[in-house]
Amino acid sequence: MSIERVGVIGGGLMGSGIAEVCSRAGSDVIVHEINADAAEAALARVQKSLARAVERGKLEVAGSEEILGRISFSTDLGEQSDRQLVIEAATENEELKKQIFADLDATVEDASAILASNTSSIPITRIASATNRPENVVGLHFFNPVPVMALVEMVTTVMSSEQVELRAQEYAESIGKTVIRAKDRAGFVVNMLLIPYMLSAVRMYEAGHATAEDIDTGMRLGANHPMGPLELGDFVGLDTTKFVADVLFEEFKDPSYASPPLLTRMVEAGLWGRKSGRGFYNYS
Ligand code: CAA
Ligand code: NAD
Repeated sequence: MSIERVGVIGGGLMGSGIAEVCSRAGSDVIVHEINADAAEAALARVQKSLARAVERGKLEVAGSEEILGRISFSTDLGEQSDRQLVIEAATENEELKKQIFADLDATVEDASAILASNTSSIPITRIASATNRPENVVGLHFFNPVPVMALVEMVTTVMSSEQVELRAQEYAESIGKTVIRAKDRAGFVVNMLLIPYMLSAVRMYEAGHATAEDIDTGMRLGANHPMGPLELGDFVGLDTTKFVADVLFEEFKDPSYASPPLLTRMVEAGLWGRKSGRGFYNYS
């Protein structure tokens, strides 16, 4: 059966983008947030992204209204009960995600519904184990900004059913994404490669080897990356970057995944990058 009703848990940077791309493809979407202010902020994120597309002539005003009309925002998890696919995109915290999946397990009525996590790093097996239907749980890892980035990593576990995997892949492709598959190891494919690179840049900056601007310009102009590694950290969120590094370090005990002291201090100080107004750069 094709997927028409989608739930998104968490309407932050990623959840708002996921809601937008699912709705653009014609799905009915309900975004769940923790309170009315967070739900309002999620709506504002989708509106901003659609307004940008209209401004650039990529979308008609009527089309943007139609896309927005298919998304509703809620603080009642019970509204997820009729969803055929739920994509969790809440804060990168294992205990929080386990609780959300246990609650979804008790809420979503369709026994064939797919429960997916957009986690950047946490093994899906641990999240799936919080439910009584681990065969229905996969990772669907989108990239930031979701409306622009073409990739979804699909993470399968020893428990996920082949039918669920095929259906999840089909849905991700139907919303215009290219799917790569990864086994259930912390960091999957992309972050296992990307995070040590970003942490190396923090160490280089911390050692006084080069300025932040020169490190970023170096990788933009010397390697044709759209953003340098420190800019990218600010863009992803330094809090999320550190959470992901910590999960990778816990899994592999490889020093290349260890958060450098400067990154840890910046996160403790609330310098989380663009989302907080300051990280390696000032956005105020
Ligand atoms: N939402 C929607 N659309 C956006 C957007 C956003 N937040 N930001 C940019 N865009 C769109 C623009 O509308 C524009 O679209 P069109 O070409 O269709 O008009 C296009 O993207 C290019 O935007 P700009 O010209 O404004 O800016 P740019 O050329 O500097 O590109 C960028 C911006 C796409 C973000 C680019 O800098 C980039 O690709 N950066 C790297 C992003 C990246 O590496 N992401 C992965 C992060 S890691 C991750 O996601 C995994 C994890 O688990 C942490
Ligand atoms: P974010 O901080 O922008 O958003 C997280 C949202 O989750 C917030 O709006 C928060 O209110 C909400 N939330 C927290 N607890 C919740 C709950 N119990 N129920 C509903 N909503 C809840 O974070 P983000 O960058 O959007 O990251 C979300 C997830 O996506 C994380 O797992 C992260 O690792 C992953 N991810 C992030 C990126 C990135 O570049 N930032 C890329 C890919 C994947």
